[in-house]
Amino acid sequence: MNRPLPRRFHVKSFGCQMNVYDGERMTELLAAEGMTTAASADDADLVVLNTCHIREKAVDKVYSDIGRLRRDDGSRPMVALAGCVAQAEGDEVVRRTRDVDIVVGPQAYHHLPDLVARAARGENAVDTDMPADSKFGALPARRRSGPGAFLTVQEGCDKFCTYCVVPYTRGAEISRPWAAIVDEAKALADAGAKEITLLGQNVNAWTDDSGRGLHDLIEAIALIPAIARIRYTTSHPNDMSDGLIAAHRDIAKLMPFLHLPVQSGSDRVLKAMNRSHDTASYLRVIDRVRAARPDIALSGDFIVGFPGETEAEFAATLDIVDRADYAQAYSFKYSPRPGTPAATMTDQIAPEVMDDRLRRLQAAINARQMAFNQATVGRRTSVLLERKGKLPGQWIGKSPWLQSVHLIGGAIGDLVDVDIVAAGPNSLSGEARA
Ligand code: 5AD
Ligand code: SF4
Repeated sequence: MNRPLPRRFHVKSFGCQMNVYDGERMTELLAAEGMTTAASADDADLVVLNTCHIREKAVDKVYSDIGRLRRDDGSRPMVALAGCVAQAEGDEVVRRTRDVDIVVGPQAYHHLPDLVARAARGENAVDTDMPADSKFGALPARRRSGPGAFLTVQEGCDKFCTYCVVPYTRGAEISRPWAAIVDEAKALADAGAKEITLLGQNVNAWTDDSGRGLHDLIEAIALIPAIARIRYTTSHPNDMSDGLIAAHRDIAKLMPFLHLPVQSGSDRVLKAMNRSHDTASYLRVIDRVRAARPDIALSGDFIVGFPGETEAEFAATLDIVDRADYAQAYSFKYSPRPGTPAATMTDQIAPEVMDDRLRRLQAAINARQMAFNQATVGRRTSVLLERKGKLPGQWIGKSPWLQSVHLIGGAIGDLVDVDIVAAGPNSLSGEARA
């Protein structure tokens, strides 16, 4: 059945920052085709659901989200399923529902305009290829940016942690070329970005043919005058090179924040997860980073209830929260991902045990986070204003340590000197200095 080409589109992204980045690039791509953005799915004649597959009942949730796009009169917009669920499900999507017109994986979304045209002609529009040619070269240049911008420099993963779906949905590790990244950083700076966060599933594994590493890239981006702050995420402990650690000492624009997931404090569990580091090697990396940058705010990821995790092994996770002294951390209940080795391991942990462990872990993390926030009270620091707060004249910005700071005064995109006057569990209050 033929249908008109859509004119107004809406992109909805779930999951990680790389998906947020991909969502922005898809928006720019569709806009370059002459389509306009719609404020919500209700006003759009093309809806892109940019999905995440990392945890929980991702697939079921996506099918119910698709169902909800149907309108009261029985009509629905053209629907494109993008992201990691699209990659994992592929053709299965069009077998399971007639409510999806386009299926496009994370490495193929530069084909979206063509897929939209095919769908409008009533043709098959499933594209989950992982082509060797880079999608990035086929995307329009960056022209819009807020004060903080994401820039994907690396994608995919070769590490195959036994719980993780990423190597299957995002493919093998690839690094974008140096010049493309530096050009994109300059374009973002021209568009108003003050802070750039370099993204990759293993961002610190970034490298190129001449053997340069992420720290070289950070050094080059630090030379762009309008860029005041640089961050990067997510890193693997084994790829924290000497050069990257030294960059935390030597490059003033590199913010004192490191997201370095450990997942568990038990060496047996880490081995079963195929993490290829143990707790001692992880803590050694942290010590070296702290020696280079004593005020670094450390962040992490944890999984509780990995198959076979005993109470004593979980206690070791609580222990590493204290030993590593996190400023913040994310924690998740283990969720079996179809096709991963851990999904078929025996000794899956009962849901109520996972709930209890997650609660205890989050209490330990929250206590550390509160202590870290309190320790910043009385400091004078810089805050990058990113969005309006709820009160008149109020702004919300980020401290160098990635805390949200509320203050009165200034304008979006300002880097203001601020005295931190109070701390809560999730944010700080500041007073702007003249
Ligand atoms: N179950 C629970 N958490 C997971 N993560 C990745 N895969 C799973 C899974 N199967 C968590 C890890 C990772 C973060 C992005 O998501 O902690 O670092
Ligand atoms: Fe989710 Fe991982 Fe895909 Fe990001 S890469 S959207 S975290 S499954």
